[in-house]
Amino acid sequence: MPRGKLYGIGVGPGDPELLTIKAKKILEEVEVLFIPKSKQETRSLALSIVTQAVDKDWECYELLLPMTKDQEILQQHWQEAARQITEVINTGRDAAFITLGDPSLYSSLTYLLRSIGQINPEIDVKIIPGVSSLNSVAAWIQQPLAEGDESLLIIPAGRVSEDIGRLLDQVDNIFLLKAGREVDKIRRLAEDQQTSGRVYLASRCGFPDGFYTTDLKSLDEQDFNYLTSLLIKKNRKEG
Ligand SMILES: C[S@@+](CC[C@H](N)C(=O)[O-])C[C@H]1O[C@@H](n2cnc3c(N)ncnc32)[C@H](O)[C@@H]1O
Repeated sequence: MPRGKLYGIGVGPGDPELLTIKAKKILEEVEVLFIPKSKQETRSLALSIVTQAVDKDWECYELLLPMTKDQEILQQHWQEAARQITEVINTGRDAAFITLGDPSLYSSLTYLLRSIGQINPEIDVKIIPGVSSLNSVAAWIQQPLAEGDESLLIIPAGRVSEDIGRLLDQVDNIFLLKAGREVDKIRRLAEDQQTSGRVYLASRCGFPDGFYTTDLKSLDEQDFNYLTSLLIKKNRKEG
C-alpha cells in the first residue's frame, strides 16, 4: 500500500485570517491532524486557530511535547510522537502536523522530523510556511523589523544577558521571543536608559485579548504570558 504524506503546517500566530490559502486547502483535504500540546496548555493554540478557519471533523491525535530542557525526556516524547505519526502515514492516509506561526522558527516540527527521519527516512514530508510572530507583531505595531542596511537579531529572551544596551552597539534591531518567562529581565529593560523609548512589547498578537505597549513600566506580572515578544529598535523614529 502506498504511504500517505505528512504536511508540517504553519498556522500563523493567532488571527485565523492569517492562515494561508495553501494551508487551508491542505487542512480541508487531510483526514488526520496531529496536534502538539505542552502539559501547561489546556487547549492547543494551533488547533484553536485552525478550527476557526476550517470546518472539518478530523481524526485528531494530541502529541504531548513538554516544555523542558531535559534532553532525555524530550527525546522520549519526540520518538513516541514520531512513532504515532509513522503508524498513521503507513496506513496510506495523509496527515498534517500543525504548528504556531512558521515551522522554521523554534517549532517542535524540527525535532519531530529528525525523529521521523530516524524511524523512516522514506516518508514524504511537505512543509507549508506560515506567517511568523515577527511579521505579525511588526504589522500590528506598525514598525519595520529592519530598514535600509539595518541588521536584525532574532533571539529567545532567555539567551540574552541583562545588558541589552551593549548588544545594541552591534545590532540595530532585536526581536526577543519567549519573553513571558523573563519578567525581571524585561523590568530591568524598562529601566535601562540605553533602551528606554525603543522597546515594544507585544502579547497574544491576533488574539482578542492581545495588546502591545511601549510603556513597559506599567506592566504587571500577569501581563506576561507564553505569547510575549519584544521588538527593540535602536534607530526608532517617532510616528
Ligand atoms: C516556540 S516560539 C514559536 C514561534 C513561531 N513558530 C513563530 O513563527 O512565530 C513561541 C514564541 O513565539 C512568539 N509568539 C508566537 N505567537 C505570538 C503571538 N501571537 N503574539 C506574540 N508573540 C508570539 C512568543 O515570543 C512565543 O514565546
